[in-house]
Amino acid sequence: MIRIAILASGNGSNAENLILQQPSELLQYPLIITDNAQAGVLQRAKRLGVATHVFSRADFREGTAVLQLLQDEKIDAIVLAGFLSRIPQNIVEHYPSRIINIHPALLPRFGGKGMYGHFVHEAVLAAGEVVSGITIHYVDAEYDHGSTLCQATCPVYPSVDTPDSLAERIHHLEHLYYPVAVRQMVQRMKEEI
Ligand code: GRF
Repeated sequence: MIRIAILASGNGSNAENLILQQPSELLQYPLIITDNAQAGVLQRAKRLGVATHVFSRADFREGTAVLQLLQDEKIDAIVLAGFLSRIPQNIVEHYPSRIINIHPALLPRFGGKGMYGHFVHEAVLAAGEVVSGITIHYVDAEYDHGSTLCQATCPVYPSVDTPDSLAERIHHLEHLYYPVAVRQMVQRMKEEI
């Protein structure tokens, strides 16, 4: 059984979707970690009966306490679901090809520091794009970097869409594809054991 920690800073719809979609003999989600004590994901976790832990942004810059908890909880892999802190080097090194992130655009465009949430969708609309999508990728110590596991696209309607309407379309894709990508990572990990 692969034990996965979800790291989330916000609303947590992807976290909830993963937990609800993936009860299996292959993997489980025993822990949600956040860097935001106000994050909506904490309410969702409570409702779902999943343990949570709040760390400060400073804890994430440093990394020791977070890694200690991950090890104490025997966490095998990490899924980022709207997580805003950078993953510290000690954790990246401890989990090589075992951390994945989802980004609400087609990387390498519309990524990097400051490109999160509505900022991404605003930038896509301002650029007059007619296609956007999601990128699921392995995580290294740079923002929105690391090899790609999967991309999926959706249309953008430049004269009609708002950042909110585009975000809704993107969330739909995320909820569809993130569970599939997690399963791919877990299956790859199983083959390596
Ligand atoms: C998603 O759009 C994801 O791509 C990005 O942050 C958002 C999180 O949404 N990294 P939610 O909190 O899972 O609803």
